[in-house]
Amino acid sequence: MRNIAVVGTGYVGLCTAATFAHAGNRVVGVDVDAEKIARLTAGESPIFEPGLAQLLREHWRTGRLAFTTDYADAIPAADFVFICVDTPTGANGGADLHHVRAAAGSIARALDPGHRTIVIDKSTMPVGSGEAIAAILHEASRADAPFAVVSNPEFLREGSALHDAFHPDRVVIGSGDPAVTAAVAALYEPFGAPIYRTSLRAAEMIKYASNAMLATRISFMSEIAHICDGLGVDVREVATGMGMDTRIGPQFLKAGIGFGGSCFPKDVKALAFMAEEAEYTPQLLHAVLEINREARRSFVRKISHLVGDIEGATIAVWGLAFKPDTDDLREAPSLDIIRDLLSRGATVRAFDPVAMEAARRVLPEVVYCADLYQAATGADAVALITEWDTFRALDFALVRSVMRGQVFVDGRNQFDPTAMAALGFTYRGVGVSLVQVASLADAGVPVPAPVSV
Ligand code: UGA
Repeated sequence: MRNIAVVGTGYVGLCTAATFAHAGNRVVGVDVDAEKIARLTAGESPIFEPGLAQLLREHWRTGRLAFTTDYADAIPAADFVFICVDTPTGANGGADLHHVRAAAGSIARALDPGHRTIVIDKSTMPVGSGEAIAAILHEASRADAPFAVVSNPEFLREGSALHDAFHPDRVVIGSGDPAVTAAVAALYEPFGAPIYRTSLRAAEMIKYASNAMLATRISFMSEIAHICDGLGVDVREVATGMGMDTRIGPQFLKAGIGFGGSCFPKDVKALAFMAEEAEYTPQLLHAVLEINREARRSFVRKISHLVGDIEGATIAVWGLAFKPDTDDLREAPSLDIIRDLLSRGATVRAFDPVAMEAARRVLPEVVYCADLYQAATGADAVALITEWDTFRALDFALVRSVMRGQVFVDGRNQFDPTAMAALGFTYRGVGVSLVQVASLADAGVPVPAPVSV
């Protein structure tokens, strides 16, 4: 049984704490937010993450998991200290490291000079942060307490963070000291994942490059979807055909209204900022972000085009969270789309299974509804924004009957265009039109001539 401290009790910190407690370690979570710690100490999870509340309660009972606001309760006894505080976007687009620096200072002041502590950066931090943290620990620690700093980035997806924590594709450990790397690798033994040992800086970069790659795939498919829209091709067929190439693979090829969340937008911006600092112009990263913004704008233009006049129209928005199985609204496409609709004079009626409380605080102008049918009532158009599973098994005839109009714009390409048309909807996806090339001309849409060979 090892002693572990986890600094920062957001979704990364809590999942890290819960999984290491489950693996048999003694874990103390530290956070400066007293209210959060009070809730955790009362056995409650402050965030919605499937399975997390149960696991926290289980290890609260086994006694392997405790929480505190006081670094002195957690750090001196710890063999390993994970830094899991947030690294939001700063004013210049780079990562804001205020919380990391504050955490490192507090850790340093609480280190026990009597034994070596391994400080592990799990938060996403710019390349070079590990060295900066080592400098803070060196300056602020008492009596030169021995320590080592390691980068061990997280690759957890919100909504399946626990599954990802227990079954990582890989564990990346960056450090200049093989003995320290081995000690951290031993912590991960129970999870049976491949361990990739790197330099400190490479580990930091792997995290950014991985998120940027995933975001690039999404923006790439957004671009292909736009082209498909213009040519009468179903982008879903294209994605399936592409994904069968083992060099490409099937994941992250789903076209829609693009990516949101606390990670991709922030990390792509931060990587672009690092590139500029290193005197390189990251054209691709800028394009990835711009295509993602355009995906939201063009979705609203599509609704507007189909509804005719958006001013005075009522639009039902299905789903608010940035993706299913989370209540997280950070950088959610729904926010930009709703603001755009409202600014054009539309009334917005919305439903989301878990994100409505958070949405109410930032978008008070929206009419929040008890369910999808109520949201659709009197609407000229339904806009599907978040593909919650529970949105699939619906009585669409009822949806159609309570609406004033018949437009259905599917931001996640969840439904079958032909079936939706048969139900009387004017259906559009993203890169998924009902009309095939043969009937585009009948619908009065200009069809590009086949290329002559
Ligand atoms: C992402 C990464 O997947 C994690 O590996 C990483 O650890 C995490 O960021 C982080 O840096 O902390 P997350 O933001 O939770 O995780 O969400 P994803 O499931 O990756 O989805 C991100 C966005 O991409 C969502 O808005 C989703 O709707 C969108 N997406 C995803 C698509 O538009 N198309 C796809 O094919 C896949």
